[in-house]
Amino acid sequence: MSRNADSPYILTAANSATAIEQGLAGAEWYTSPIPKAALRELLERRDGPALRDTLLWFGLLAASGYAGFQLWGTWWAVFPFLIYGVLYGSTSDSRWHESSHGTAFRSDWLNNSLYELASFMVMRESTVWRWSHARHHSDTIIVGRDPEIAVPRPPDIKAMLMVFFNLNTAPNYFRKLCLHAGGRLTDEEPLYIPASEHPKVFFKARIYLLIYAAVIATAVFQRSLLPLMYIGLPNFYGAWLMPVYGDTQHAGLAENVLDHRLNCRTVYMHPINRYLYWNMNYHIEHHMFPLVPYHALPKLHELVKADMPAPYRGLREAWREIIPAILRQTKDPGYFVKRTLPTPTQPLQPAAAVLSSSTAAAADGWVEAGDAALLGKEDVIRFDHAERTYALYQTAGGGYHATDGTCTHGRAHLADGLVKGNLIECPKHNGRFDITDGSPQRPPACAALRTYPLENRDGRLFLNLARAGLSDAGEPQVPRGEQAQPRHLDRGVGA
Ligand code: FES
Repeated sequence: MSRNADSPYILTAANSATAIEQGLAGAEWYTSPIPKAALRELLERRDGPALRDTLLWFGLLAASGYAGFQLWGTWWAVFPFLIYGVLYGSTSDSRWHESSHGTAFRSDWLNNSLYELASFMVMRESTVWRWSHARHHSDTIIVGRDPEIAVPRPPDIKAMLMVFFNLNTAPNYFRKLCLHAGGRLTDEEPLYIPASEHPKVFFKARIYLLIYAAVIATAVFQRSLLPLMYIGLPNFYGAWLMPVYGDTQHAGLAENVLDHRLNCRTVYMHPINRYLYWNMNYHIEHHMFPLVPYHALPKLHELVKADMPAPYRGLREAWREIIPAILRQTKDPGYFVKRTLPTPTQPLQPAAAVLSSSTAAAADGWVEAGDAALLGKEDVIRFDHAERTYALYQTAGGGYHATDGTCTHGRAHLADGLVKGNLIECPKHNGRFDITDGSPQRPPACAALRTYPLENRDGRLFLNLARAGLSDAGEPQVPRGEQAQPRHLDRGVGA
């Protein structure tokens, strides 16, 4: 959606600074308590559900596309192309989204392949949007920080209606593609895309333009619109379902709050809609626990729903709230829908255990961290000591390791993340680190963690604070306007 140059929603250094001064940037967000064992089960990655759903999706695209081809030249072709267009131009959005988090599949190559394909299909440059979406999860609907606020206030109703057919998004997209293909970025993009990623942006923009040029050339050569009905035009005639689902996520809700229950909606949907939308209707749950794969969101919802505002009973109920809210915001931009937070009827589940010690480290740097029985295999636990926080790990093979406790990308406790092999996955944006040497292994994590020796001595964990190590891999590559997070958070900051 286009914005005036003086809009507070533009990601300028000044607007970003305002959010930072208010403590809204990279801040601590509310998280519903959930038993660690239950969360760990939900985090389990599988290839099966997304393979099944993706093969069905490809099958539907192929069948509708083939029917359109066979019926081309008759009015009957309208019907298969209506289906093809929605599958291509709208449902690629949720495939793009889930694979961007790296959670749809267990196998990274499957996540990355679907991500590249779906990014092209939904008209989002894959590198640009990977970084923009990381920021959206750090600073959800924080004005001046979140590049993905779909309905800035006061809402532009004409622009909102044009989005249903990408009439404003598409020109903007092609303008940026040309800019990137020419080796340049917009003024906003360096604020959230690190310099090391810029060559990828330029390279992929050229590839995208080449594909569009080839499709247009084929259409001209064949003197037929048919090639464009498969690539290009579906983003116009099939885009309408994307805002029907997507605007329910945040439209009309609060800005500048640090509780996803106040700025996201969870909407119950029919199973067909949930298939098309890949369960993104559980949007509060997704934002609160972005590591949980889409197929586990219904189970997560059952675990946390007592701590959530009442879910909407369907798309119709959500839109009955959104339409009057945005109409009112056109005259009263300060208005927003206030969600009522529940008083839990049953005691909340205890959060994950945290080890702590106030005993000073010995002269040789060793400090006793606590009971080793609390740290299972392929597990991580938080340890707080002297106003600093650490993450202690045991690998599946029984190796003990320790790193700084907070992610180098943002303000997230790694103890809330997922250990797989020698990797810890950050709970906030799914960045990964090697726990043996602290090196970053998956963006947006780019800077290494400090590591520390950790030993299990007769059932007690001992950490050495004097022998910290820092891998050379992954020098800090922080986007302009993004503050590198301190290596240690003060106790009490963070989840
Ligand atoms: S906070 Fe972004 S990857 Fe960890």
